[in-house]
Parts: sequence; C-alpha cells; structure tokens
Amino acid sequence: MSNKSAKLEVADKNFDFPVLEGTLGPDVIDIRKLYGQTGRFTYDPGFTSTAACESALTYIDGEEGVLLHRGYPIGQLAEKSSFMEVSYLLLNGELPSKTELDDFTYTISRHTMLHEQLATFYRGFRRDAHPMAVMCGVVGALSAFYHDSTDITDPEQRKIASHRLIAKMPTIAAMAYKYTVGQPFMYPDNNLSYTGNFLKMTFGVPAEQYEVHPAIEKAMDRIFILHADHEQNASTSTVRLAGSSGANPFACIAAGIACLWGPAHGGANEAALNMLREIGTPDQIPHYIERAKDKNDPFRLMGFGHRVYKNYDPRATVMQETVREVFDALKVNDPVFEVALQLEEMALNDPYFIEKKLFPNVDFYSGVILSAIGFPTTMFTVLFALARTVGWVAQWNEMISDPEQKIGRPRQLYTGPTERNYVPMADRK
Ligand code: SDX
Repeated sequence: MSNKSAKLEVADKNFDFPVLEGTLGPDVIDIRKLYGQTGRFTYDPGFTSTAACESALTYIDGEEGVLLHRGYPIGQLAEKSSFMEVSYLLLNGELPSKTELDDFTYTISRHTMLHEQLATFYRGFRRDAHPMAVMCGVVGALSAFYHDSTDITDPEQRKIASHRLIAKMPTIAAMAYKYTVGQPFMYPDNNLSYTGNFLKMTFGVPAEQYEVHPAIEKAMDRIFILHADHEQNASTSTVRLAGSSGANPFACIAAGIACLWGPAHGGANEAALNMLREIGTPDQIPHYIERAKDKNDPFRLMGFGHRVYKNYDPRATVMQETVREVFDALKVNDPVFEVALQLEEMALNDPYFIEKKLFPNVDFYSGVILSAIGFPTTMFTVLFALARTVGWVAQWNEMISDPEQKIGRPRQLYTGPTERNYVPMADRK
C-alpha cells in the first residue's frame, strides 16, 4: 500500500483515490469507491486501462517485451525447464525440489485417464466437428463425471480438480483428434513424460509400437511452456469471471476454452498458418501487407499485433528458433516458413507497423511448427488450450483464495430509449 493518491475533480468537487503499488509495473488507482463518492462509472470497454485483479503469477512488460512467470523470464524457462516444472511453479509459486517435481509429475500421471463413459460422449459429435467444439463440450461435461471435486470451498477438492484438468487435457485433446480422423482412441501411457504421452495418444495406433521422437518431445514441451499463462488475457479473464460466481472449475475452464477459440485470441495460430498458406509465395507479401493496412479491408496480419506487447513477443522469438530445430529433426523444410520470415521482415520495416508497434506474437510461428510435426490446423488452438489450462487453473485458484474476491459485475454507459409506455398492437404503425 502506498501513501500516494490520485486527485479527481467531478462537478466542482475534488476527490482523492488511493494509488496502489505492485512489485513491478504500473501503479493502479483504486477506484472501488468512485461510484459511491461521485455517482459516476469509469468507461473502458476493452479494459485497455483497467486492472481487474491483483495477481502474483505472471508479469508482462509490453514495452520491453518481458514475460515473467513467478519472476522467472520465459526465455530461461523455455530453455532450462519443463512443462511439468513450469506447471508446478505457476501453481505453487516456487521452483520444485527434485522430490516435489517427481511427486507432482506422479500425481498428474495418475489422473490422465478419462471416465470410460466420456468416450461414448465423443460419439455424439459429427466426425467433421471442429476439435475446439469437441473440447468445449467434453471439458464442460467433466463436472458431470467428477462431481466429487466441484465444491470450490474445499481446498482439497480444488486441488484434485486442478490436477484432473491439467492431466486430462492431453487425453481429451488427443481423443478429439483421433475422433476426427476415425482412428481408435489411445489410452494414456504413464511410462512416458506428460508431453511424450500426449504425442503417443495423438499419433500412435494400437496396431504398432510408437516411439516418441526426443527432439519433437522437447519442442512440444517448450511450446506448452510458451503457452502456459499470460496475465489477464481474454480467456483467463473469462475463467476468472465465471469462477467469481462460484461455478465449478470444469465449467470455468470450458468457458475459457470457448473464449480462446476466437481468431483475435487463441484462434490466431490456426488463422496465421491459413494466412501464410494463402499468401503462398514471397512475391505476394506486399499485396497482403497493403490489405492489412487498408482500413476498408477487414484483413489483418494474423499472428501480428498484441494488446500488451508493443515490442517483440518474447515467446515468438523462442518459437522462431524452435521452427529450425523441428525442421532439422524431421528433415523437412516447409516453404511457408520462408514466407513467414520475409513477411515479418517486410512488416517490421513498414511505417504502418512501426508506428502502430505491431510485432509478431506467439501465434505467428507456432502453426509452422505444429504443421511440420503433423497436426492439422484445426488442432492448433486445441494445443493452445491444453497448455493454457495450467495458467487458467492457477489464476482460478488465486482468485478463489483471494479474501477480497467477489462476483464480477461490470456496469455500463446506457444509451438506449428513456422510459416509455407499452403500445397495444392496434395502435402501432
Ligand atoms: C493472443 O492478451 C493476450 O495476452 C493474448 C495472448 C495470450 O497468450 O493469451 O498473447 C494470445 O491472443 C495473441 C494475439 C493473437 N491475435 C492475432 O494475432 C490477431 C491479429 N491481431 C489483432 O487482431 C490485434 O493486434 C489484437 C487483437 C491482438 C490486439 O488488438 P488491440 O489491442 O485491440 O489493438 P487494436 O485492434 O486496437 O489495434 C491497434 C491498431 C488498429 O489500427 P487503428 O484503428 O488504431 O488505426 O493496430 C491495427 C488496428 O487496425 N492492428 C493491425 C493488426 N493488429 C492491430 N493491423 C493489421 N494487422 C494486425 N494484425
């Protein structure tokens, strides 16, 4: 708490509001009493200047392109850590000891199986259903199967539900993929790593042995780390708002998945690769850059721009390096990568993108890698949701444990009709 305050004059009256300081980043003006004292609301439709909560999980400095998870830079975590270790860090606040990590990993592995009845649930979908539609439905249905971990007032039930969600998302994602390609579901193999198990459930078949490719396992695990959490983005805010009403954790995560699906958010990785393939060759890039700058054209460069980053998204840097690693490991070279590299180069030297501080974000290169590994574009956002589940769960737990937590209920600027009387049908024009 600081002794700083912000002064506001409204209708010839002066008001003081406390200024709160965090450990990093901008101070905040505490306006919780603004309406009570001034009779006015603030107005911030896209929450561009609004801090909706206090959090100790993730810090982003958009101007400098910095991303910290519990204080650790994303570049160091991507290079030196693992998704299981980053998950433990996000949930518990500190890097685990060897024993703590082994125990956590073992616990997660014991929740990887789905209730067998849920396999029947998949058969209600059309085979050509988008895997994100399946993900929304199946995750929302988990509360019908795991109602013994839906009492959010019980810390033990919150813990079990958190572990179940983190553990079951790879199984649910792999089953969504298998269902669309008409292959049998693969059961989890707890002898493998979290990420190795996911690769086997996705690309393995009962008819033959599946060997996890170490370089692909490492790249996939790093991609999960890069997507784990990202402060109060749209889907995380959705999870928090749903959780603020007391909804069970499975319903809250299903709400987050639905929000992530949008092309302006997590759906951008699928849209970005589709865009790169549509551009096709480097000579077409100038035409698409001009379209992206044309206010009358709804086309935007997918995978470019960010509400917070006005510098290079540090995750995009790691992602670009990972493209080269995966291409070398698989001996592939998709020409779409060259289109991406040249598009980035041209955009970053274009006055429009420079002036608006538009840089590649996490979604710009991820699709190139996922496509090379063998995922269809429709699975890209499913993979984002798989990885972001630990962030959503950690943010949800933080909110539930916050003694100041209350139901989120924004107000509005009303611009509709003033009060008027009902008009009987006979009297209407
Ligand atoms: C993710 O919040 C998070 O942290 C999200 C995320 C996470 O990890 O959770 O990082 C993941 O969602 C990354 C973003 C993925 N989305 C895309 O790549 C879609 C393309 N990007 C844009 O739609 C846009 O940049 C947003 C949605 C990401 C950000 O939009 P903002 O902050 O609301 O900014 P804006 O739309 O007001 O844009 C500012 C200006 C506008 O021009 P003016 O109206 O001021 O003249 O920049 C322009 C925009 O038209 N602009 C773009 C552009 N992005 C913004 N112009 C062309 N191409 C783009 N990609």
